[in-house]
Amino acid sequence: MTTRKTKRIGILTAGGDAPGLNAVIRGFGKTAIGYYGWEMVGFRDGIKGLVENHAVPLDRSALSGILTVGGTILGTSRDKVHKYLVDGQPVDMVPTVIENYQKDELDALVMLGGGGTAKNAKRLADAGLNVLLLPKTIDNDIAGTDVSFGFATAMEIATDAIDRLHSTAHSHHRIILAELMGHRAGWLTLGAGLAGGADIILIPEIPYSVETIAARIKARTDRGSTFSVVAVAEGAREVADEADLNAARLLVDAARSPEEKRAARTHLANVEDSQREHTFKLARELEAATGLESRVTILGYVQRGGTPCATDRLLATRLGAAAVAMAADGQFGVLVAARGDGTEAVPLDEVAGKIKFVPPDHEWVDTARKVGTGLGDQ
Ligand code: F6P
Repeated sequence: MTTRKTKRIGILTAGGDAPGLNAVIRGFGKTAIGYYGWEMVGFRDGIKGLVENHAVPLDRSALSGILTVGGTILGTSRDKVHKYLVDGQPVDMVPTVIENYQKDELDALVMLGGGGTAKNAKRLADAGLNVLLLPKTIDNDIAGTDVSFGFATAMEIATDAIDRLHSTAHSHHRIILAELMGHRAGWLTLGAGLAGGADIILIPEIPYSVETIAARIKARTDRGSTFSVVAVAEGAREVADEADLNAARLLVDAARSPEEKRAARTHLANVEDSQREHTFKLARELEAATGLESRVTILGYVQRGGTPCATDRLLATRLGAAAVAMAADGQFGVLVAARGDGTEAVPLDEVAGKIKFVPPDHEWVDTARKVGTGLGDQ
């Protein structure tokens, strides 16, 4: 408990980086410092900085010029607070974090992150810290929010890539498969695939059949289009592979003893490993089935890098400013969610451990079917 009149807020960025992290730091910081007269400190490299108490003061000058900067000025990591690796061994660092929070005389901790960070945030909130989570990820898979910052920029980048792949696929009469990120959700691939006019879009929520895709491509060839662009989500799987993956995931969920858990996790990792090159495998199969030369482009980390687009800058700034208002109201243990044109506080219980998948009846799925885009299932 502090006797200071002003509030002192800690902020960190955790998990994979995404465009807009600095824009949120700036939006939150400018509002907190300039509008409310509070103090801010940033923790370096996510949970790591919190555990090691690596805090840096964030004043107005630190926030200047960062709106357009990609990545995160604070650095990030994928550490888990309750299983923090010390000499390779997992240690529960919640008590250490509580100690550091008190030493630093914090009134609140603002965490910018996705699914993994939501779990960390909930643990710290359950331990009594005043925590706010802001939704960051290019995957757009955070439960409870309409959208996450970083998604719009990644979709722009992926759409531009699909546009460019079209002209080269057309020139060479090839099938080009573009593998996009998104973890276990298909938002990025479906959004960019629709915006870029991909001929086939494959997402994790709709397992595909190679025969169905090949038939679509052959039908295009018959109509005179001797090329195809296929947008493939990194998590998309053929029907049989998806069944194997689900069975392995269920075993992990069902495992009770530590030995069972370890064995089930090893099995899941082996199944995942065996499917890692799924886009290259699909390219080979489509080449054999259609007679068209096939190529693969893995878009990778380019989707996460660089300056945020205007939509993400606006969203990041709005969420940052709204988060300060929630902190001022004493609203903690929540996700600062985007809801329509506004924001909403969603309890972390409704966010942590959940994944927002593309619903099979989502309007984007329906639109893809209506405009004749193949989704690999029919
Ligand atoms: O969650 C963002 C994301 O870029 C996913 O799309 C991707 O699966 C993952 O992170 C990659 O993680 P890492 O940065 O650990 O390689």
